[in-house]
Amino acid sequence: MTGTPQLHPLGETLGTEARGIDLSHLDDATFAWVAQAFAEHPVLVFRNQHLTAEELAAFGRRFGTPRIHSLVKYRYPGVPEVSWLRNVDDSGNIDWYGVKRATDWHTDSTYEAVPPLLAMLHALEVPSEKGGTMFADMRAAYDTLPAAMKDRLGTLVGLHGRTDGPAGARLYDPEEEMRMTDKAFPERQRPAVIRHPVSGREILFVNPMHTHGFVGMGKDEAWELIEELARHATQDHLVYYHSWQVGDLLMWDERATMHRGAGDYRPDERRVMMRTIVYPN
Ligand code: SIN
Repeated sequence: MTGTPQLHPLGETLGTEARGIDLSHLDDATFAWVAQAFAEHPVLVFRNQHLTAEELAAFGRRFGTPRIHSLVKYRYPGVPEVSWLRNVDDSGNIDWYGVKRATDWHTDSTYEAVPPLLAMLHALEVPSEKGGTMFADMRAAYDTLPAAMKDRLGTLVGLHGRTDGPAGARLYDPEEEMRMTDKAFPERQRPAVIRHPVSGREILFVNPMHTHGFVGMGKDEAWELIEELARHATQDHLVYYHSWQVGDLLMWDERATMHRGAGDYRPDERRVMMRTIVYPN
């Protein structure tokens, strides 16, 4: 531990900086402090960290099992639990898929058999302006829904696929997506409202990238509802915009949040991060 760790709020409902921690030398007591802080604060930021890919994977492993990324070309060479989030290819040319990737609201991999617990991004190079990542608080989103909508959602089961929700259809070409991965993703059913296993809080668990319908509901009605819920959840006061600094390591709770790349920077400026997504053991 490098001094007593402290928490400092960054956003109105989400975004908390944890100070006084060196993640490359994390003893058990400090890890326990981090895990406790993360249970309360679903977007946690550590500044001035300089982890290798191996160290990032090792930090992820303390929470669960980091998995190989489904997008083959972004896998980090030699460290399968880490992947790139970047807008340049190996030769330094602009990677346009990397520029547009994930620039609409989603929760990662809700179409997997078991959805992830958390994800981490570690910033290595950042644009001179903007290029942030936005996070929406899906606990506050649920809490602030009208009672009638809460009742309605309580009976609904969402259908989740890879990129076939309304935001996925806007952003991605399904054939290109098939070429980018070496896995098949059958549709999964998930309740529209879940309860956080640690905090016990109710969470709106519908995201416009992967939720493409609800059991027993027609597509038009379902897409209208998915978009309405996304608009509600991403109102300014429920969103934290993280402005990246080199060395930031940010981790977020995949159950309690949605996120997106803001997509608001100059694509000819390099934006390079390492990432790991952690699943339950
Ligand atoms: C993502 O992790 O989904 C993308 C976030 C970003 O590009 O800022």
